[in-house]
Amino acid sequence: MEKRVTLSIVLTLLAIVVLGAYINFEPDRQVAAAQRQRQEAVERGAPLFASLCSGCHGQRGEGKVGPMVAGGAYLQRRGIQAGDPNGMRLAEIEMRKTIARGVPKTVMPAWAVEEGGSLNQEQILEIAYLMLYGEEKDWHKVETLAAGGVQQPFVATGGASDPVSQGRQIYEAKGCNACHGPKGEGGVGPALPGFSEAQITTQVRTPKGTMPAFPPDRLSNDEIKALAAFIESLPKK
Ligand code: HEC
Ligand code: HEC
Repeated sequence: MEKRVTLSIVLTLLAIVVLGAYINFEPDRQVAAAQRQRQEAVERGAPLFASLCSGCHGQRGEGKVGPMVAGGAYLQRRGIQAGDPNGMRLAEIEMRKTIARGVPKTVMPAWAVEEGGSLNQEQILEIAYLMLYGEEKDWHKVETLAAGGVQQPFVATGGASDPVSQGRQIYEAKGCNACHGPKGEGGVGPALPGFSEAQITTQVRTPKGTMPAFPPDRLSNDEIKALAAFIESLPKK
């Protein structure tokens, strides 16, 4: 009898110790896991930002046609302290909405698939994390990718074999759609139907106006051919 009481006391104490250790340990583990997941998302956001956003927001997110979005600039404009959990959550929600829907009456396009753009919600979150949590090394990667051309293997190998569909994929992957509209109808840049392959080549290699250049390591001659085929296929007004 006495033995059993002792045993159950020992077991109860043991359970308390184990539970206590778990309660102390678990939050640390969760925080570490969340941080790792966030860093992975930031890294996936880098090539997306390089190919789709850097033309207007700068190769380091320092701002160009659109405002600076790197290094806490987005938070500073809203008076949010970096690291304040509630502020960060609000900033994340607002930023995702802005990326998804664009800014009406400005050249900032809507990016969500639901809004006629090319990004799913996960990709939007990844880019938002880059802008909210990205560090110097992450922006360095964006700059390298943007300057050296983002390799998008799905463009070359992505199922489509006819030049027009390939051209459509390239048009979206290289971000032409952001400035010339999803169907080439015009936006920041002019409507594209009617431009010849020669005119397109001249413009992408040695652009006039504010359009960024697309050197051969960013856009090959074959890709320009496919783009021209796609633009040729667009309905003329
Ligand atoms: C064609 C140019 C252009 C492209 C491409 C572009 N943006 Fe913008 N963006 C702008 C402009 C201009 C504004 C400012 C709109 C305004 O006046 O409020 C803006 C605003 C924003 C803002 C809000 C900034 C703030 O503090 O309110 C975010 C966030 C943003 N862009 C993210 C992105 C992301 C992410 C991408 C790529 C997926 C992208 N933008 C691509 C032009 C562009
Ligand atoms: C950041 C915005 C932006 C992006 C991205 C962009 N363009 Fe442009 N584009 C412009 C602007 C602005 C002009 C008008 C330049 C001018 O005439 O001042 C233009 C002009 C053009 C023209 C007309 C050239 C002419 O002879 O008048 C063609 C063709 C063109 N772009 C093709 C493309 C293609 C193809 C891509 C993708 C590989 C692309 N653009 C990406 C902004 C952009």
